Amino acid sequence: MKSEIRLISGAMVMLALSTSALVVLPYLQVHDVPALPGLKPYSSTELRGREVYIANGCVYCHSQQPRAKAFAPDFARGWGRATVAADYAYDRPHLLGTMRTGPDLMNIGVRQPSQAWQLGHLYQPRAFVPGSIMPSYPYLFELKARAEKNEVVVNLPAEFVPAGQVVVARPEAMDLVAYLLSLDRSYPVIAAPAASGPGAPR
Ligand code: HEC
Repeated sequence: MKSEIRLISGAMVMLALSTSALVVLPYLQVHDVPALPGLKPYSSTELRGREVYIANGCVYCHSQQPRAKAFAPDFARGWGRATVAADYAYDRPHLLGTMRTGPDLMNIGVRQPSQAWQLGHLYQPRAFVPGSIMPSYPYLFELKARAEKNEVVVNLPAEFVPAGQVVVARPEAMDLVAYLLSLDRSYPVIAAPAASGPGAPR
C-alpha cells in the first residue's frame, strides 16, 4: 500500500510540474502581450471571414507561423519574418496550425493581394495553379445566368465556367478573402523609439 501511495503522489507531482511548465508559465508570460503598433485589429468583415476559415478547416493544411531564418527557409520562401507573440494579440483562438500541406498564410495579404486571384483560387485552385492538391470550395460561390449589380463576378479561365453562366462570390467568399488579405505581419517587430525623453536618438 505504501508504495502505491508513493507511486500516485509521484505521478501527481510530475503532472503538476509539467502543467506548470507547459501551460501555466507560458500563459503568464504571453497572455497580455500588447499588439505591436503596426498590427491593425480585424474589422467585422475580416472576423466573419476568419470564422469561414475555421469552419472550412483551412488550418489543417495551412500554418500561420513563419519560423526564424536560423531554423528554416521560411523567409526565403517569401512567407515573411518569424512571428512574435504580439503578432497574435487579436487572434482568438490563434490559428498557428501544425500542418503545412500548403504554404504558410501569415503574410498571404502581402504575397498575393489580388482579391480576384484569391476568389478564383478558392473556387478552383487548379485554374490558377495547375496540379494543385488544394480542395475547391464551390459552395462559397453561385452559378448564375447573369450577376446582379452589387455582386462580384469571379474571373476564371473560360474552361472552368459552364457555358452561358457566371460564377458569383457569395458573402462568405467575400468575407474569407477580406480575412486573407488582412493577413500581413510585415511591419517591424521593434517599435520606433519615442521622439523625446531620456535615451531618445538625436
Ligand atoms: C488539403 C489541404 C488544403 C486545404 C484544406 C486548404 N488548402 Fe490552401 N493550399 C493547399 C496547397 C497544397 C496549396 C499550394 C498550391 C496552390 O496554390 O493551390 C495551397 C495554396 C493556398 C493559397 C495560396 C498560397 C500562396 O502562397 O500562393 C491560399 C491563399 C490558400 N491555399 C488558402 C486556403 C484557404 C482559405 C483554405 C480554406 C478555405 C485552404 N487554403 C484550404 C492545400 C490546402
